[in-house]
Amino acid sequence: MFFSMFELSKSRRLASLPPYLFEEMDRRKEEARRAGRDIIDLGVGDPIEGPLPEIVEALARASSRPDVHGYSTAGTRELREAIAAWFERRFGVRLDPWEEVVPLIGSKEGLAHLPLALADPGDRVLVPDPGYPVYRSATSFAGAEPVRWPLDPGAGFLPDLDAGEKARAKLAFLNYPNNPTSATAGADFYAKAVTFARRTGTLLVNDAAYSEVTFDGYRAPSLLATDGAREVAVEIHSLSKTFHMTGWRVGFAAGARRAIAALREFKANVDSGIFKPIQFAAAEALSLHYERAATAVRGYYLLRRDRAVEGLRRAGCPIEPPKATFFLWAPVPAGTGSLAFAGRLLDEEGVVVAPGVGFGPGGEGYVRLSMTNSVEAIEEAVARIARMAPWK
Ligand SMILES: Cc1ncc(COP(=O)(O)O)c(C=O)c1O
Repeated sequence: MFFSMFELSKSRRLASLPPYLFEEMDRRKEEARRAGRDIIDLGVGDPIEGPLPEIVEALARASSRPDVHGYSTAGTRELREAIAAWFERRFGVRLDPWEEVVPLIGSKEGLAHLPLALADPGDRVLVPDPGYPVYRSATSFAGAEPVRWPLDPGAGFLPDLDAGEKARAKLAFLNYPNNPTSATAGADFYAKAVTFARRTGTLLVNDAAYSEVTFDGYRAPSLLATDGAREVAVEIHSLSKTFHMTGWRVGFAAGARRAIAALREFKANVDSGIFKPIQFAAAEALSLHYERAATAVRGYYLLRRDRAVEGLRRAGCPIEPPKATFFLWAPVPAGTGSLAFAGRLLDEEGVVVAPGVGFGPGGEGYVRLSMTNSVEAIEEAVARIARMAPWK
């Protein structure tokens, strides 16, 4: 008989991550689905429409070539040049396609690897709270210390730059337009952030995954367009949201040469690049289809945002229409926790939303509703929420 003493434990770094608070909601959602309940999911932010057909055709065309199936560690020249050209057209910033750009296997990959490429145990990393959970987990994986950087609703969900400066951090994550709060940052905020980064030697990392999902004539600025930013900042972009290509896994990091070089070196050790046909199609998307794709995407979410905000306001929820992202950050009724409120919406009305506390303790008091569902589903979900009249 074979007797094994083999016992496998998680690494200390993996075990050190805070509990995944969406797990409870995921479990309850699955249970409700299995029980045959009619569930409307506004919890996850994954677009339901695919990319423009021209982009899919570019992928099909490229993948039928025999010479595109090898490794592509450094990224193709076509994609790097298309990224630099798009960045210059969009933000007026001219980047060196080799020294100031690195293609990513989705922006999440770059966000996860930057702390590993740049931070050591003992280094501090400023992590917005609430925030996209990857900033914190990546910092922990690097053995560095995540420092909570609260986003204050009273300050437009911008972090306190004086507190940031005092932290003497190696890296500081920013994320505008913001998930989960939908807040935006102006050029004045970026200018102050760059001043603090230059004074303290902190690298600013702005996650701009939602830079193109904007409404009412608002266009998000690039941090890299700020005077002096290019030595002290990196901006992370994604094709996922702009082009509805979430599953394709393509994005890029741009900015400070030393940071880009370190990330490129790190990545050479852990991945071997993006499938070349995806790179060709992504280059074509940026060069030829950006305006049309972005217009279509903005149109989808504008209509849904307006319908949802209208319905929520009628239900008594004090919410303003956001200028960017496909999320609504709705305050929960007084005296309710975000997890309890999300649980109640699911149990009583079959509507799934993300509890704010899942994005960090600073998200308590809010739930996030994603507009990546059909307008009919969103209207039905909002009508169900209104039926509960939780804010009245
Ligand atoms: C703020 C933020 N950054 C990055 C990402 C990751 O996007 P990608 O598909 O480019 O990895 C997401 C995805 O939800 C996000 O919300």
